[in-house]
Amino acid sequence: MCGIVAYVGAKDCAPILVEGLRRLEYRGYDSAGLAVHTGRGVEIVRAVGKLSNLDAALRKQPLVGTTGISHTRWATHGRPSEANAHPHVAGKVAVVHNGIIENHLALRRELEAKGAKFSSDTDTEIVAHLIDEAQRGGKTQLVEAVRAALARVHGAYAIAVVSSDAPDEIVVAKDQSPLVLGIGEGEMLAASDIPALLAHTRDVIFLQDGEMALLKRSGAEITKLDGTKVERPVKRIDWSATQAEKGGYKHFMLKEIHEQPRAIEDTLRGRIDQTEGDIVDGEIGITPEIAKRITRVYFVACGTSAHAAMAGRYWVEQLARIPSTVEIGSEVRYREPVFTNTDLVVAVSQSGETADTLAAVKAAKASGAHILAVANVLDSAIPRMSDGALYTHAGPEIGVASTKCFTAQLAALLMLAVCLGRRRGTLSADGSRRILDALQHAPHQMREVLAKADEIKAIAKKHLKARDMLFLGRGTGYPIALEGALKLKEISYIHAEGYAAGEMKHGPIALIDEEMPVVVVCPRDAHYEKTFSNMQEVKAREGQLIAVATEGDLDVAQLLLDGQPPQSARSSRGGSSFPPAIDLIEIPKAEPEILPLLTVIPLQLLAYYMADLKGTDVDQPRNLAKTVTVE
Ligand code: F6R
Repeated sequence: MCGIVAYVGAKDCAPILVEGLRRLEYRGYDSAGLAVHTGRGVEIVRAVGKLSNLDAALRKQPLVGTTGISHTRWATHGRPSEANAHPHVAGKVAVVHNGIIENHLALRRELEAKGAKFSSDTDTEIVAHLIDEAQRGGKTQLVEAVRAALARVHGAYAIAVVSSDAPDEIVVAKDQSPLVLGIGEGEMLAASDIPALLAHTRDVIFLQDGEMALLKRSGAEITKLDGTKVERPVKRIDWSATQAEKGGYKHFMLKEIHEQPRAIEDTLRGRIDQTEGDIVDGEIGITPEIAKRITRVYFVACGTSAHAAMAGRYWVEQLARIPSTVEIGSEVRYREPVFTNTDLVVAVSQSGETADTLAAVKAAKASGAHILAVANVLDSAIPRMSDGALYTHAGPEIGVASTKCFTAQLAALLMLAVCLGRRRGTLSADGSRRILDALQHAPHQMREVLAKADEIKAIAKKHLKARDMLFLGRGTGYPIALEGALKLKEISYIHAEGYAAGEMKHGPIALIDEEMPVVVVCPRDAHYEKTFSNMQEVKAREGQLIAVATEGDLDVAQLLLDGQPPQSARSSRGGSSFPPAIDLIEIPKAEPEILPLLTVIPLQLLAYYMADLKGTDVDQPRNLAKTVTVE
């Protein structure tokens, strides 16, 4: 998730820009740069790595001027390098960009055919060339040239642009990526987020999708992309700097839970060919020949990523009919697993650096297996070692407990299963279109589930005294049960077990009594009736049922009502040691493949609120690290 800061005013802008970028460091980045009008035209300085490297580069080549744009890059297209760092320059213009340009390949081919020379692998450079082309074609006003360029672009963007022939102007625009304007005294700023503005002003305007603004010292002229004028009131921000970094949420984890719909949208962007009912191959590298050669899909991953991999196995088996297996990285590395050159090894890792997963990939590579990384950090160790990569575009995840990367992994793995199914001929175009349609609708449904946060908080409050909890699910509900238990134990320190619902009778049923909350993932799917009988078994033993079910499921509602513990049991424990009420969390009706993306959200929120109400350190739970680069 890149960061943008722009300034036009009377002060020397480079220190303001770098300080602004520092305030956006929480967004994650791998390189940084700025462009300033120096009187000699627009000059740029860029550096890979931390902002201290940019500081050092600026000491060697100071940029002095009062109009400038700057950027921290979280790589999505093109590895982290100075050439790929922003700003990108074409002709007189320099551009910084946050987002993903979907049609960048087609535009790049077209521009190259007309003679444009590219100096990076980024999608952003296309925007610079399009603006340059518009300027050469007679759009002498920068704002008009940017407008003409954006008319050609599909995707998500927030951009800031300067041009050497407009020394007192910055043009910014946004669609689906954030951008906020800061209104100072005789100065204007723009940034990806509020923390970058707070040292200068608390008066802001949130630009809306499809809007652009011409920034001058005297103020901002906001228009829609078609040129219609926009009047928008100024808002006064009273957040502290720390509150602002978390977007007003109490913890990064809660912010990231709420960012999930956007993380899915960004992960799907540009990858779905709805007409053909197929996945755009891009960097995945699974040609029809490779897809047909595969005799086994072998997922390797750890922790939460292994739970996503388990769902991936179900989908690959159902949709592509390839035998599949999931193993946790640490077990692969200490056995002598048999890989063959017809295996597709899928390494799933948020960080792309997990030592156990990396070691498993090394072992598989030695045997000639085809390796595909599903990672969130571009060019990290696991994708570097792989034959192809299917990146999740969830943006940096700061909370140690993974949430938005998990659902982004689910979306990526479902796309992989569709891709394999289509290329092997086991999935029809119609079948695929049904799934892809549902997947594109999922972010909307996820927002509906997120709107139930207060209901889930109330349920969390009732179960705060629990010392143990059980999570049950079937089919793809099983990895979701495991994930719910993992989330709860790692941040609230309440002991929790996740089980396949069918395993309940083989042991865990012995744990159930009136003090045991049992979370059952029971949406209306092919396994519904079986899971429903598990709930009846829990009820018969007076366990405290918390059901995640499909909206309007009267059977579940009735079961929960009937399942209230008898009055005698309640009073024998002082009447309040366990909650007697109905704990039903409804999710919208959805296609079966989409259910895990919806059912996991209540479990994440339940874990979050139980931990927060207990007062634990939610973002940095004890003993845990975000990236585990040791055995
Ligand atoms: C749990 C969690 C961990 C990670 C695991 C693998 O919330 O975040 O279980 O999933 O350490 O990390 P990655 O995905 O970076 O390989």
